[in-house]
Amino acid sequence: MSLICQNCGASYAKWQGHCDQCGQWNTIIEEIATKPHKSKKKIIRSDLVWSVGQAQTLKADFQRFSTGITEFDRCLGSDGAGATGVVQGEVVLIGGEPGIGKSTLLTQVVLNLARELKGGRRVMYVCGEESPPQINLRLKRLLRRGEKLADLALDYVLTTDADEIVTLIQQQPPALLLVDSIQTLKTTDLLGPAGGLGQIKETAERITKIVKILGVPTFFIGHVTKDGTIAGPKILEHLVDAIFDLSGERSGDLRFLRTLKNRFGATDEVGVFQMAETGMVEVTNPSEYFLQGSQTGVPGSSVVCILEGTRPLLTEVQALVAPSQLAMPRRVGRGIDLSRVQVLAAVLGKHCGLPLGISDIFLSVVGGMKVQESGIDLGLAVALASSVAQRALPRQSIFIGEVGLMGEIRAVSAYQRRLKEARRLGYTQIYSAKTHRNVPALLQELKLS
Ligand code: TYD
Ligand code: MG
Repeated sequence: MSLICQNCGASYAKWQGHCDQCGQWNTIIEEIATKPHKSKKKIIRSDLVWSVGQAQTLKADFQRFSTGITEFDRCLGSDGAGATGVVQGEVVLIGGEPGIGKSTLLTQVVLNLARELKGGRRVMYVCGEESPPQINLRLKRLLRRGEKLADLALDYVLTTDADEIVTLIQQQPPALLLVDSIQTLKTTDLLGPAGGLGQIKETAERITKIVKILGVPTFFIGHVTKDGTIAGPKILEHLVDAIFDLSGERSGDLRFLRTLKNRFGATDEVGVFQMAETGMVEVTNPSEYFLQGSQTGVPGSSVVCILEGTRPLLTEVQALVAPSQLAMPRRVGRGIDLSRVQVLAAVLGKHCGLPLGISDIFLSVVGGMKVQESGIDLGLAVALASSVAQRALPRQSIFIGEVGLMGEIRAVSAYQRRLKEARRLGYTQIYSAKTHRNVPALLQELKLS
């Protein structure tokens, strides 16, 4: 018997209401472990079972499978020789809010592979979450016209029993395994509830062990808790080879697949998708997508170039400055931290003399993106000044730079890459630390102050 905090995994000898490790209340739950399940002892394919003292020949390169989705493959990593995708025996965790499109994206991956498979190998989709009608509804959208599920090398396994899954994998190792979701799995060896830390850890470990031995690439879908982290992350972090987070504004149709960890690739890759009627569509040219219908040429709008992972992306930012009815004027950022809005307002007020003290300020990144990066500062500052002056910015102008507290324009990383992307999309008027030293000088030149 053990007492485990369901939030951080700390174990205790006696029950207590408060976890000393992570500070959460009422997260410590009793978990009783009984004897290991019988199926654990079963050894299949003795030639492949690793035992202590037996040296493994390490292969320099791994065989990679394409997921059939270029944006996804790129996030998974490449072997340097041009092959991208998932590695044999790799275990990948995909997290994201409910309804964001995890099941959709991975159903597309398993369908792509199932269409290609030959020689009797099949894909296994473990579905602990949805009922057959729900699955059918999704498949109806994702199957090609005239395509039937029965003709594809794909098996849906409707179970939440991890030991049953392990047995099935042993009997016929699939070409790819998808578990939707890890929170629904359970082993009868533990008494804790499905979705509890003990169950997540144990079931993920059991499955990982067998797929590593048999070299089955595996995707676990994981839910995200209220604070935005994948449930049980500390436990799964070390177990899996790669962790991705699928996010986006649920109201908008854009989705970002961000890499949080990757043993077989770079961690700064981002895949961009659009949720459409027939599944997730790759957005290979995000800048063009973001700039569609942009309001350039209208006061308060500017174009910036941000860096998502290693990719430069052009997007529009908008500012609205309006007289305030409140004693404490409002400062609102959509897709931008509030502290950044406040700092920019202070800098523009102090160094450029803009009368912002009695105005409400709204700043927004168009397209539902959340931007942490400071390279967006200059564009925001200029958009703000443009809204105050009611004067549009020059056509085909783009702003790349961080704004310091003294009003100076600072250089940003990967400037050349951003410049190239800007030029590619026809932005010829580039304003940055290279063209202007400080914001007041730039605003004067643009006749905004
Ligand atoms: P889903 O993949 O079930 O989300 P998750 O597994 O992350 O919880 O996606 C759910 C939403 O996606 C649902 O609101 C319907 C929508 N959707 C589309 O817009 N197009 C599609 O082709 C599919 C299959 C779903
Ligand atoms: Mg789902």
